[in-house]
Amino acid sequence: MKILGIETSCDETAAAVIEDGANILSNIVASQVDIHARYGGIVPEVASRQHLLTVLPVVESAMTEAGVVWQDIAAIAVTIGPGLAGSLLVGVNVAKAVALAQGLPLIGINHLEGHIYANWIGNTKPVFPCLCLIVSGGHSDLVLMTGHGEFKKLGQTRDDAAGEAFDKGARILGLGYPGGPAIEAAAQKGIPSLPLPRAWLKGSDDFSFSGLKTALLHLVQARDFSDSSLVADAAASFQQAIVDVLVTKTLEAAGRSGVRQILLAGGVAANKALGDYFTRHSSVPVLIPPPDLCTDNAAMIAACGYYHFQSGQVDGYDIDVIPSLSLG
Ligand code: KG4
Ligand code: ZN
Repeated sequence: MKILGIETSCDETAAAVIEDGANILSNIVASQVDIHARYGGIVPEVASRQHLLTVLPVVESAMTEAGVVWQDIAAIAVTIGPGLAGSLLVGVNVAKAVALAQGLPLIGINHLEGHIYANWIGNTKPVFPCLCLIVSGGHSDLVLMTGHGEFKKLGQTRDDAAGEAFDKGARILGLGYPGGPAIEAAAQKGIPSLPLPRAWLKGSDDFSFSGLKTALLHLVQARDFSDSSLVADAAASFQQAIVDVLVTKTLEAAGRSGVRQILLAGGVAANKALGDYFTRHSSVPVLIPPPDLCTDNAAMIAACGYYHFQSGQVDGYDIDVIPSLSLG
């Protein structure tokens, strides 16, 4: 069964065709990163205009590369939220128009649930109950998953998301945008020797990263950061502080909830230091999608759509975007 996925929640225009929720037939991502980099972050109005320009060619490429025609597609899955309203609207309206024109079922997908389903792509088969750590530009959520579509949120960030912290940290260090890959690259040349705080928030599964960002700013203001080895050490120390908190708190929650697996999801899950630290410290198996399935893509939306479709969860042609949608 082939599902077409469409994703336009933020700054990637993406479409993919997935077979049986696991096999990638095509996975096209048109990134706007170069356009937003000059502003140091995403400009929502620019993002939606760019989606308008690229969405149809991206959907056509996904169909062509998969070698399919509309008659081969069983349903269309599209991200309805959370995300930027103007960006979400582009994908949702294209999905609606095509579904209506081709008489195909339409499935609205929660972007965060989509991130989790990147773990079902390929040969990996997650088992329940599992604990999902969703770490992206807008979210740091710990979610207990007891079955397909069954989520209970245990914790979330109280201020900055992990990806947002990477982006703001990189800006403070003058490393450019997007910050996660930039900090990861710089950190490889440094040692995590600088003192930076960790917000443990004991007794809660919530996260907080804004104090860490402020501490980095104070460090940069107090020392001479024209020295590139100091920048590398600061990047390594900053990355290690985020990794420490994410891993320690996730493993605590995993122990308490007795899960059989931990699933990482979202752009920050592409961070190799995070994956390595998890694998070294966890007694529970940790699944991490390949980097291009951690960052925004439509393959994960199509994979998630497959499981919705299997359980009869199909939406009407009147679905709308929900920019503040949450999970669990
Ligand atoms: O999931 P995603 O692509 O988009 C959202 O749904 O937000 O996540 C984007 C975030 C950005 O903040 C980016 O800096 C971060 O993921 N990111 C990383 C890495 N690659 C992307 N953070 C740390 N290390 C990386 N390698
Ligand atoms: Zn995302």
